[in-house]
Amino acid sequence: MSTVSRVFRRLPSGEGAGSVLARAFSSSTASSAVEPKASKPKTFSIYRWNPDHTEKPRLENYTINTKECGPMVLDALIKIKSETDPSLTFRRSCREGICGSCAMNINGCNGLACLTKIEVASDSATTITPLPHMFVVKDLVVDMTNFYNQYKSIEPWLKRKTPPQDGKEILQSKKDRAKLDGMYECILCACCSTSCPSYWWNPEKYLGPAALLHANRWISDSRDEYTEERLDAVTDEFKLYRCHTIMNCTRACPKGLNPAKEIAHIKKIGMARAI
Ligand code: SF4
Ligand code: SF4
Ligand code: FES
Repeated sequence: MSTVSRVFRRLPSGEGAGSVLARAFSSSTASSAVEPKASKPKTFSIYRWNPDHTEKPRLENYTINTKECGPMVLDALIKIKSETDPSLTFRRSCREGICGSCAMNINGCNGLACLTKIEVASDSATTITPLPHMFVVKDLVVDMTNFYNQYKSIEPWLKRKTPPQDGKEILQSKKDRAKLDGMYECILCACCSTSCPSYWWNPEKYLGPAALLHANRWISDSRDEYTEERLDAVTDEFKLYRCHTIMNCTRACPKGLNPAKEIAHIKKIGMARAI
C-alpha cells in the first residue's frame, strides 16, 4: 500500500486545489461584491474499501455544495477529499482528459471524472464506483497491471527490418499518416476494456479493445515492417476472436474513438490473409 499512499499524499490538500478553488471563489466574490451564491447540494455515493481495514466494501455518502466547486465530477471528488475526507482515494493528474488516470464508473457508465459533468439538475445521488471487473487497490483505484501488460504484449513501438533510406528519417505520406487517426489519440484509460463483457469473462486471455486498438495502430502504420508478425501474434481464438462486436467499448470511450472498428479491421485483414 505504500505506493498508493505516496501517490495520494501528493493530492491537493492545504495549499492544493482546494485552496486554489477557495481563492478563485473568494477573489471573484470580493471583486464583484455580490451576495453569496445560493447553496446547491448534491450527494455523491462513493465506493469505499481499504485493504488495511477489516470492513467490507461499502458506499459512503458525501453531500457538497456544488456552487462551491467546479462543474466536473473530479472537482467534486477533490472538494470532498480536501474538505471532508482526506482518506478518499482516487487517481487523477491532468484534469483535462489527457492522462487517462481518473477513469471510473459514474452512475453506471465508465468515463473520465474530469470530463463528466456533475448532474446538478438531478436531485438523486451520483454513484461512483471503480472501473468494473478490475481488482481494487483502494477505494476508486484499480490494479492496472494486467491491462498494461496486455498493452506491452502488442509491442507498441515502431519495428523495422531495414534502415531508413537516407540513413536518418523514415518518411510517411500524409495519406498514410491519416490512417492512424482515431487510434493515436487513445489515452489508455481502460474505460473501453472494462466495459466489454468479453473482457470481463476472459481478462487474462482476451486482449481487450484498448490493446487491440493499439495493435491495429501499429499494423496500420506504413513505416512498420512487422505487419505479418503482428497479425500472427494477435490472430488468435482468445486474444482477438473473443470480441463479439457488442460495441460497449465504442460507447464507453471518452475520447470518441471506435475500438470496435479497429478490431474489425484486424479481423478483416487477418481473414484476407487466410484466403
Ligand atoms: S466490440 Fe468487441 S471489444 Fe468492444 S465491447 Fe464488444 S466484444 Fe468487447
Ligand atoms: S480506446 Fe478510448 S476508452 Fe479505450 S483506452 Fe483508449 S481512450 Fe480509453
Ligand atoms: S485527470 Fe487526466 S484524464 Fe482525468
